[in-house]
Amino acid sequence: MLVASQMEARLELFPESVAVKTTGAGGELTLDGLSLATLAERYGTPLYLYDAATLDAAVNAYARALARCYPGEAGITYAGKAFFRLALAQWTQRHALWVDCTGAGELAVAQAASVPREHILLHGVNKSTALLATAVKGVGTIVVDNLTELGRLAALAEEGNALPALWLRFKPGRAVETHSHIQTGHDESKFGMGWDEIVAAAALCREQGLPLAGLHFHLGSQFRDPDPIEYALERTLDLAAAVELPESWTLSPGGGLGVAYHEEQLPHPDPEAYVCLVAERIVAGCGARGLALPRLQFEPGRSLVARAGVAVYRVGALKQAGARRWLLLDGGMADNPRFALYGARYSALPVRAPLRPASGAAATFAGPYCESGDVLIEELPFAEVEAGEFVAIPLSGAYHLSMASNYNGALRPAVLWLEDGKATLIQARETPADLLRRDRPLPEVEVPLARVPLRKYHVNGNDYILASLADLRRVPEAEEIRQLCDRHRGFGSDGLLLDTSTPEDGFSLRIFNPDGSEAEKSGNGLSMFTRYLWETGRTGSEPAAISTKGGLVTACYEPDGRRVTLQIGRARFSAGGGELAPETMTLDGQSFRYCAVDLGNPHCVVLRDELSEAETRRWGPLFENAPRFPQRTNVQFMVVRDRANIAIEIWERGAGYTLASGSSSSAAAAVAHALGLCDETVRVHTPGGSVTVAIDAGGEIILTTTVTKVWQGYLSSG
Ligand code: LLP
Repeated sequence: MLVASQMEARLELFPESVAVKTTGAGGELTLDGLSLATLAERYGTPLYLYDAATLDAAVNAYARALARCYPGEAGITYAGKAFFRLALAQWTQRHALWVDCTGAGELAVAQAASVPREHILLHGVNKSTALLATAVKGVGTIVVDNLTELGRLAALAEEGNALPALWLRFKPGRAVETHSHIQTGHDESKFGMGWDEIVAAAALCREQGLPLAGLHFHLGSQFRDPDPIEYALERTLDLAAAVELPESWTLSPGGGLGVAYHEEQLPHPDPEAYVCLVAERIVAGCGARGLALPRLQFEPGRSLVARAGVAVYRVGALKQAGARRWLLLDGGMADNPRFALYGARYSALPVRAPLRPASGAAATFAGPYCESGDVLIEELPFAEVEAGEFVAIPLSGAYHLSMASNYNGALRPAVLWLEDGKATLIQARETPADLLRRDRPLPEVEVPLARVPLRKYHVNGNDYILASLADLRRVPEAEEIRQLCDRHRGFGSDGLLLDTSTPEDGFSLRIFNPDGSEAEKSGNGLSMFTRYLWETGRTGSEPAAISTKGGLVTACYEPDGRRVTLQIGRARFSAGGGELAPETMTLDGQSFRYCAVDLGNPHCVVLRDELSEAETRRWGPLFENAPRFPQRTNVQFMVVRDRANIAIEIWERGAGYTLASGSSSSAAAAVAHALGLCDETVRVHTPGGSVTVAIDAGGEIILTTTVTKVWQGYLSSG
């Protein structure tokens, strides 16, 4: 268990303006006199805060050391990669810092903040030709990473561009001691050029008259031991003596000085000691080699900005999982990936009563994201806290927000600037609209069938799927219809009804058979379509005109909502005027009497003495495809029971054996009536059920059916 004085050590990790305001039990954590709890309530969490006083102090420490220890010209470059927003870029110019930009994005931020061109330096390991073309017009210095890049710059110069100062990035062959992901100076590193390449690059500059002005190296980030830097300085000075450099040249020993993230790493590395060590080495080294003293340009990022930043989170839930005590926060690897990437070791304090002693097992702080690596701090002795409390993590100023992501749709945090006791919002919290800003929808046409709302209706054992063209956006392919109607592998139905109505042209219906072919008309299909129009409030009790490929049909839903009546048109008998007489056809040696009738679609009503499914299946396809019917035909096998009742078996064109069919029933009733075998109103019995067909004085066929809705929803994919 840590006692309060040990917790006090953690205050050292926070910005210089930190204090524990002692009003209330245990006090509360403040920065620049401002209550972190109040700011967190007001701006939400996760919340990042930057303390201007700490930033200023860090710059001053570097500047003081340079003034004290280096007799030559000197300067400080702020490495934008650590954290670079408009406000931060503006702050750099209060101190006339140079800024190191990697890529067009950081360059744009520097330019938006009106950083003067001569203060902008471009870094990067693979700068595109486009970036270089922009940079030659907008930056003061380019640090050349490789010979290909130098070739691109030479080409730009040849095209008439005046190049900015060029420094060559040297890879001295040793890296600082740090996590391998942030080591850069070793021979295998992707960054910079070895000795021979630098010699070649310098020669090229000389030949082409390119403005070579300095040498740069960077051995890695978050180091404490400067020993490899001393080695690199010696090698770089040797190199400077070996290649021709102008009298006023620059030596840039990069950045990389570390900070203490955890109380056990205190005290913070001292920039003054480091700067003076480097300065003394250069003075001595130049003297020994007879070199002119270079301008000395440091480019720290982390050691300037890390300690100025604090992240505040709200504890959402607490969990004890086996031996592990979890503190679940509302931020994590999406705003700070450094534990996940480098195993970085952080510390924290509660915002309320921050110096409460730790109690219980050491706590592990994790975020809300879907990954077990979403951890901020592992095993930190920590006070008992409750859900809803705020915790503050110091050393959050560098490489958190600049590496933040939108993983799991995370919204990047709001950022406050604290100065002179005032908080200013310098970056608003991201919104869902920000996440969608760059997105564009899929092209409109390719809507898969599986995403379309469908209905299914039923009349007397006859079922149809109904979809609207407005939802489908295109008429489905025959193969899609076959799949949909397939009773084993698809949704299963006797066909597809496609609502092709438009506000301009009124109701219209296209009807597809389960084999994908199109039918002109279907009595049952039209009944179902009428039911759908009624259900969706598009028709009342007024008759509605529905156009089909087989002609216009008038439909009416009875006011009680139970039955549909359809005027499906007049029957046309191919026998022509006068009395209707059956024709005969011989199939497979058997002779049949039948009447061909057109209801807008073709029918063949075969007169029989008795009916059976087996006979229907045997003779149906032979009639359907008989040469007599070049368009193929629907077939009904009919038995007349009495003047008011007939029974039929149906073989449907494109569908085969079918339990019921409105137009088949209508065709059969029309034939029975025309042959004088039945009265005007006939009950037609099918294997699926019965319907009533009436033939009015004008010969108009009126079909009355009852429709049920079977299902409505979306077809699921797969
Ligand atoms: N100059 C160059 C050429 C650099 O590559 C870097 C950092 C710096 C200066 C600034 O180094 P600093 O003073 O910040 O250490 N994302 C890692 C750090 C990557 C550093 C990359 N280069 C992290 O979170 O630890």
